[in-house]
Amino acid sequence: MQTDLRGRDLIGDLDFSKEEVETVLDVAWDLKMKRALGEPHAYLRDKVLAMLFFFSSTRTRGSFEAGMAQLGGHAAFIESRTTQISHGDTEREMGEIFGRYFDGIAIRHVDWGIGNRYLNLVAEASRVPILNMQCEIYHPHQCLADIMTIIEKKGRNLRGKKMVVSWAYASSYLKPISVPQSLILQMPRFGLDVTLAHPPEFKLMPEIMDQAQEQARKYHTGFEVVDDMDAACEDADIIYAKSWGPLLTTQDPDEGKQIQDKYQNWIADDAKMALGKDDVIYMHPLPADRQIEVTDSVIDGPHSVVFDQAENRMHAQKAVMALTMK
Ligand code: CP
Repeated sequence: MQTDLRGRDLIGDLDFSKEEVETVLDVAWDLKMKRALGEPHAYLRDKVLAMLFFFSSTRTRGSFEAGMAQLGGHAAFIESRTTQISHGDTEREMGEIFGRYFDGIAIRHVDWGIGNRYLNLVAEASRVPILNMQCEIYHPHQCLADIMTIIEKKGRNLRGKKMVVSWAYASSYLKPISVPQSLILQMPRFGLDVTLAHPPEFKLMPEIMDQAQEQARKYHTGFEVVDDMDAACEDADIIYAKSWGPLLTTQDPDEGKQIQDKYQNWIADDAKMALGKDDVIYMHPLPADRQIEVTDSVIDGPHSVVFDQAENRMHAQKAVMALTMK
């Protein structure tokens, strides 16, 4: 167990070592147990988290806010459009000033080429931890909830199990690529063989792919990339199928939508699930485009663990906050 996470930022998935992530998970399960038993666990009494949002959220906002209250502290919900950021508050000023008011600063900023840089610049100026609530590159707190859920469903020994991280069609908007990127970085550390499936225009960032391959080599796990969702789902233990935009190909929403529309058969349906093992689980971070990205029969069916995933956001984030903001 690694116990010295105080003051640390969590911006990229590899910012915490594997042993530190294991500590987060152990604390998360302890906090989950305490909540189930109704035991108070006010480890962050009198502490305040700033939650600065440049983009909408349901789960991230709800789980950080509820989590801080359960830890005895408070979370301040701040939408960027209601601040003076557009009138000149710089990243350095935000880090310096919010670092004096708050005990942690959580930020969601998914704008392409801007969000991750923003978080890092705030972090340089801040005296308190910066927690990434999703940028255009990483969604580390989602990924912590995901590995927590996978271990709950499949056990701690995941070696040899096949996890499919697949693109799926959506029509709503060009979703960020941060979820699949976080998954391919973190999952090899836990022994999972990862198969990444996407049409050619939906590549992930080359530097993230290199790091994922390096993690797979380091932890002696499989990592393959295919362009066929059916082939990917064969014998899967876990099918994590979600949409993301063709953002390495184009950031133009209209052009991106035209590309997406070519692949409407990339849907998580019963036929895809039937290709996996009998006890395959279906995962999605939500929100999902129902009947487009995934059928109701899959997302509401016996293989789906999406609500446990959503719940675990709160437990995992409480662990990170308790360990870093204490
Ligand atoms: N999964 C997730 O991050 O959900 P929200 O966008 O609703 O926060």
